[in-house]
Order: sequence, then C-alpha cells, then structure tokens
Amino acid sequence: MLRSAGETPAPQTQQSQAHCGAGLWPAPSLQVANLQSEAMLRYTGGSSRLPRSQLCPRKAAASRRTPKWGGAELTHVAAVHISEWVLHAEVMADFRIDADAIGHTLQRAARRARTCEVEALLAHARAGNGLDAESLAVLWFADLDSEALYSAALQTRGRRSTRLETFSPLYLTNTCDAECRMCGMRRDNQALHRETADLAQVEAQLRLLARRGMHAVALLTGEYRAASRPWAMGYVNAALRAAHGLGFSHVLINVGSIDKDEFAALLAGVPRRDDGSLQPKLTMCTFQETYSRATYAKFMGTDPDNPRADFDRRLTNFDRAYRAGMRVANPGILVGLNADVAYELTALALHTRHLLDKGMQVYLSVPRLRQIAGGRSQGGISDGDFIRLVSLLSLGLPAAKIVITTRENAAIQHTLAPIVTVISAGSAAVTPYTETGARFPLEVSQFEVIDQRPFEEILRDHLPPAGSIENFQPALTAPRVHERVAG
Ligand code: SAH
Ligand code: TRP
Ligand code: SF4
Repeated sequence: MLRSAGETPAPQTQQSQAHCGAGLWPAPSLQVANLQSEAMLRYTGGSSRLPRSQLCPRKAAASRRTPKWGGAELTHVAAVHISEWVLHAEVMADFRIDADAIGHTLQRAARRARTCEVEALLAHARAGNGLDAESLAVLWFADLDSEALYSAALQTRGRRSTRLETFSPLYLTNTCDAECRMCGMRRDNQALHRETADLAQVEAQLRLLARRGMHAVALLTGEYRAASRPWAMGYVNAALRAAHGLGFSHVLINVGSIDKDEFAALLAGVPRRDDGSLQPKLTMCTFQETYSRATYAKFMGTDPDNPRADFDRRLTNFDRAYRAGMRVANPGILVGLNADVAYELTALALHTRHLLDKGMQVYLSVPRLRQIAGGRSQGGISDGDFIRLVSLLSLGLPAAKIVITTRENAAIQHTLAPIVTVISAGSAAVTPYTETGARFPLEVSQFEVIDQRPFEEILRDHLPPAGSIENFQPALTAPRVHERVAG
C-alpha cells in the first residue's frame, strides 16, 4: 500500500520542527535523511533517554545547516520529490538499514522531545493514529514517565477490539552451527546437552499440545552451515506439515534465515492460493536481535562460513519469504544486546513499516535476555524501560501485533497483557511438553524461562470474563487436564 503523493505532507524540516502540531503522520523525513548520509552530525547513541542538559544548543545550530547531497544543495522542494521517489523505490526494494539516517532521525527526535510538540504527539497517538519512526523516538526521549506512556497505550488499546492470541514454542532440536554469544544453543557451548527429536516425537508433542487446547505453535531449530541446511529444511518441512495435518491454525517458523533456493524445500506441500501466496497462516520469525551492525558483529560474529553472522542476509529474510509466498512476518529485537534502545526502536519501526507497506501482517517480538546454561548473568534493561518500549510500540504501531512471552514474569505479563496482542507460554527445552505442563531443564534449553506454570494456568489468568483467546480452546466439558491427572 503506497501512500499517494497527495497524502504525503512536506518533510519535517528543521524549521517545521519548531512548530507544535506539525503534520505527524506520515512523515517521510527519513527517506530524505537517507540521502544525507554525509551531512549533519552523527547521533552518538546513548544508554537511554537523553537528558535535556545534553542537548547542546551549538550542536542543534550546526544541524540546522542545509545538508549537502552529491555536492549539490538539497533544497526543500527537491527533497519532497526525492523523498517520494525514494519512498516508492524502498517499498519495492528489500529492506535496508542506514545507520547514519537513523542517527539523524534520533538527533531531530531528541530536539523535538524538548518542544511542546510532545503533548500533541501523545494526543495523536492516543487517538489511535499511530506514530512514524521519528515520533516514536521523540516520545522515547521525552520527559514523560513510562507510566504516562503506558496509560496512553492502555487508553488507545481500549478503543481497539483486539482479541488476545497465543502460541506455544516447540524446539525440535537444540543443535546449532552458529555462535551467537548470548544464546545457550551456540555450537561451542559445552554446558548444553544436545538433543534432536525425531519426527514421531515431534508429532506426539503436537498431538499433546492440540489435546491441551493449543492450536498455534512456533517450530524452532538452530541455524546451520552449508552441509546441514538441506537436512534442516526437510526436517522443518516435515514438522510443519505434521502441524497442518493436526489442524493447527497458526504455525510460526523460527529456524533462522532462509536462502532463496531453500524455500521450495521448506514449504513443499503447503497449499497455495492462485496468486502463489500460502493458504495456511505461516509466519516467518527472524528477529534481527539488533539493527546495529557493530553490535550484531559483537554477538553474532563475522565468520563468512556462518550464515547467522551475515547481518544483511538476516535483514532481508522477510523480503525473500514474501517472494516465496509467505505473508506474515515476525521481526524483533533481543532487548539488552544494544544499550541504545532508541536506535533499536526506530529501526524496528522502520522495518515494521516496510513489511506493512508490502502488505504483510506483522508480529513484533521484544524478548529480554535471560540466563543460559554455562553462562554468566546477562545484561538487560529495567522493567520501567521495558514497559516504556512496549507501550511505545503499542501506541505507535497499532497495525502490528506485539508478542510477549513467559520470559517475563506473571506481574509484567499482567501489566502488558492489555496493550499487547499475543501472550506465548511454553518451554525452551527440546520437545518438553507433558500431559499437564512442561520440562524446563536449563541444560537442554536455549535460555531460562521465567514463568514455568502450565500454559493453561497462565492463559486462564488472561481470559476475558466471557471471552476466549485465539488459538487456545481447552476442552470445556472435560475436567481441566491437571485436575484429571491429580484426581
Ligand atoms: N536459531 C533461530 C531461532 C532463534 S530462537 C535463530 O537464531 O533465528 C528465538 C530467539 O530467542 C532468538 O532470535 C533470540 O532473539 C532469542 N534469544 C536468544 N538467546 C536468548 C537469551 N539468552 N535470552 C532470551 N532470548 C534469547
Ligand atoms: N524464542 C521464541 C520467541 O520468542 C520462542 C518462544 C515463544 C518461547 N514463546 C516462548 C520460548 C515462551 C520460551 C517461552 O518467539
Ligand atoms: Fe543458534 Fe539461533 Fe542461538 Fe544463534 S540465536 S546460536 S542461530 S539458536
């Protein structure tokens, strides 16, 4: 869905930022900023919101200089035309990250955060209109406490009638050829006991989940180097066909990025519509973890034989998935890898917009770092900042469905449930489910799951009084599973 020229307001220039209530949405300033990579100041990043005292007037004045592009002065009028052209090109092209452009966006956002525009932005968002990436950053930086943003999200969410939805993870194996430093499954982690389920075990687990009323599942594996990739594609394909055979209504694939020529094997046998798109709801999950190349290299490495270390290959996975007929994307950030949350928020918002513009349905994940087998305790962000992040995503991207998992404790789940769309409960161990719950041994898990209660119990907490949760249909007449066993 391409915005027509008539709907596109003039880019927010440095002059217009001074006005309160300037055109808020859509703001194509980023597309213009893409063309200014050598111009203006670099945003230096930061661990959290920018104290106002850090906003040096000299720097602000310097950034008001007319930016240069290709040696020529980029005039305001030219910028409008170029922005539309670039906007069009970007909708068609694969997603890219321009860190300089995001840096400029964050600089502008930090300045706008000091103006009276903040209140207008918040009111605009509260009315359910969403926010562009830069405005999201403005509210991140603004001197508004997280509770104010949370209650705005709560108010907005009240206007939407989004039903809560769920799925459970099913790890098919905990083997992996990659070396992501934060992850228990990385191949050099001696503390992890490796397990790979066979197809019969996978089917038995799927049957068990379905019997317990769970009809949506995320299939997970590691990411593999050349020699094992054909095996992995065939294995995941068998599992997803088994899930479809058992009537699962939503299957998510969280198995790393897929190369163009691998989709045929991954998606073999999945029914398609006339236009080539997949008929069943099949979601591609590939969290970028961090949109910063430097941070990505620090955690995911740079080995050319390790496909997971290829930042751009990961970044364009949804574009390839789209061409292969997939229409649901689940990007995400691993919260805690990059201390510069504003950068990640902005990049995630741009990625989301790109995917929505392509016509994809978008789920957004914001997992927080958790303990792993053999690992030291991991860094993270505070509960307050996490609530701020989720509130802003909820306010700013009403068209996307935010996912929270049982990496979060019951109290945070309760706080966030009204402003997200998906609560996912389960275990990060291989084929862990039992009739009544799940196993959670850290030595076979990708990471530690905080809330280890059975998903029936967790979801019951979130059941609306007379309503239901999408993809969760516990048997109504039979006694509850754990009561049956207990009795
Ligand atoms: N091998 C696949 C599947 C990843 S599992 C892949 O890498 O794409 C899903 C997600 O778990 C990862 O994308 C990452 O965001 C998250 N994760 C990794 N290590 C974690 C940790 N220590 N704590 C919490 N989440 C973690
Ligand atoms: N890591 C995956 C994700 O965040 C799998 C997952 C979903 C998960 N829900 C979970 C892992 C709950 C543990 C607990 O999408
Ligand atoms: Fe492997 Fe995925 Fe863990 Fe990286 S995040 S080590 S690719 S399982």
